[in-house]
Amino acid sequence: MNSQKNYSFTKPLGFIMLIVLSFLTVHGDVHHYDFVVKQKNYIRLCETKSMLVVNDSFPGPEIRVHKRDTVYVNVHNQGYYGFTIHWHGTNFTYEVILSEEEGTVWWHAHSDWTRASVHGAIVILPAIGTTFPFPQPDEDETIVVASWHKEELTPLIDAADLPASDAYTMNGQPGDLCPCSSDTTYLWKVDLARPICFV
Ligand SMILES: *[C@@H]1O[C@H](CO)[C@@H](O)[C@H](O)[C@H]1NC(C)=O
Ligand SMILES: *[C@@H]1O[C@H](CO)[C@@H](O)[C@H](O)[C@H]1NC(C)=O
Repeated sequence: MNSQKNYSFTKPLGFIMLIVLSFLTVHGDVHHYDFVVKQKNYIRLCETKSMLVVNDSFPGPEIRVHKRDTVYVNVHNQGYYGFTIHWHGTNFTYEVILSEEEGTVWWHAHSDWTRASVHGAIVILPAIGTTFPFPQPDEDETIVVASWHKEELTPLIDAADLPASDAYTMNGQPGDLCPCSSDTTYLWKVDLARPICFV
């Protein structure tokens, strides 16, 4: 009689705990991002260049989530160079499940040279309830390092080699040693830098 009672009590409890545990350990939050891809003019190295960017931003918007989160990115392509873009002609939703990754990586366009301007950082913070494997930094800054080409790269989509770049940029700026750079220098003091290199 007692064992019968115990059995009927513990089994549902164990089942409920299993559901709660699997929810805590497997599923993170779900995030939705909208990316609008279109041409925009940029002035760098004293020359104006039209290039494909996401949300008028070079580098593109940062995706900042936690490990085990799921990200849905709706991509709306409004670029007139759409024929070179993998997702041309329609809107695509990308589902990214960040189950194992932790740290800073990048997203970029699929077609070869469009990734020169269509890219950005994905910052994957430790899963909720866990911490970095080092003391919590006081500040946190993402630095995206990229190559700048004066030349329009889109017509070179089928070229085997990319021409040598004219400058490197950090967060879209070639820096004050280059001509026509902005007259303010980007300065910061951080304990945690997140460099993303585009080569
Ligand atoms: C991109 O721009 C669209 C349209 O303005 C906006 O709805 C969306 O929130 C922006 N996405 C990001 C990631 O900033
Ligand atoms: C794509 O998204 C735009 C909004 O950016 C919308 O106006 C258009 O109807 C969508 N096209 C399709 C084929 O879903």
